[in-house]
Amino acid sequence: SVPHQIAEPIVSWFREHKRELPWRKNPDAYRVWVSEIMLQQTRVEAVKPYYERFLKELPTVKDLAKAKEDKLLKLWEGLGYYNRVRNMQKAAQQIVIDYQGNFPDTYEEILSLKGIGSYTAGAISAFAYGIPKAAVDGNVLRVVSRLTGSREDIMKQSVRKKIEEALERIIPPNAPGDFNQGLIELGAIVCVPNGEPKCGECPVAGFCEARKQGSIAMLPVRSKG
Ligand code: ADE
Repeated sequence: SVPHQIAEPIVSWFREHKRELPWRKNPDAYRVWVSEIMLQQTRVEAVKPYYERFLKELPTVKDLAKAKEDKLLKLWEGLGYYNRVRNMQKAAQQIVIDYQGNFPDTYEEILSLKGIGSYTAGAISAFAYGIPKAAVDGNVLRVVSRLTGSREDIMKQSVRKKIEEALERIIPPNAPGDFNQGLIELGAIVCVPNGEPKCGECPVAGFCEARKQGSIAMLPVRSKG
């Protein structure tokens, strides 16, 4: 399990140290969605210009729903994994039909959209709507595996599910967005995958089992893939 005492320090640390990123300004559901889909296989620095251009050309769900395919592909050119943007357009069309173009505001409705899995649904729910759902990506799997000293295989769906449930028991109800983004940000800039993690900068180093055990370098465990 994940100690509840980590929540407050992570939220405070995030508020003090967060990077200014374009999608952190006015985090409405559409903006969060576009950014999180782009960030799934692409680094933050590379995403920035694509994100700005996409939002300028297609500022709303309705614009995305009715965009021509050649325009979509041009906006995505260089990001790769073109099914991501094709699925986004299908989801946008679904939102126009089912919700008059207004992005749905419950986790279950968001999760049912084409191309949106538990990570993206959790991110939109928490960042845009303040719903206390977890948003567990690779960064968060690494941070939590190290914090808890877990040697379970993070490629297993069951392990991800257990981590989501453990986090949802400790998400501060008044700060789900900052808590989740704090975990992501810790993984991105402090509890890094390669080389030395910067434990001296970590607000929850005192709770870290891997640090106590000297097992940071071997965590997380990932089998297949
Ligand atoms: N990686 C995935 N989601 C992110 C976010 N919202 N901010 C920074 N890096 C991310």
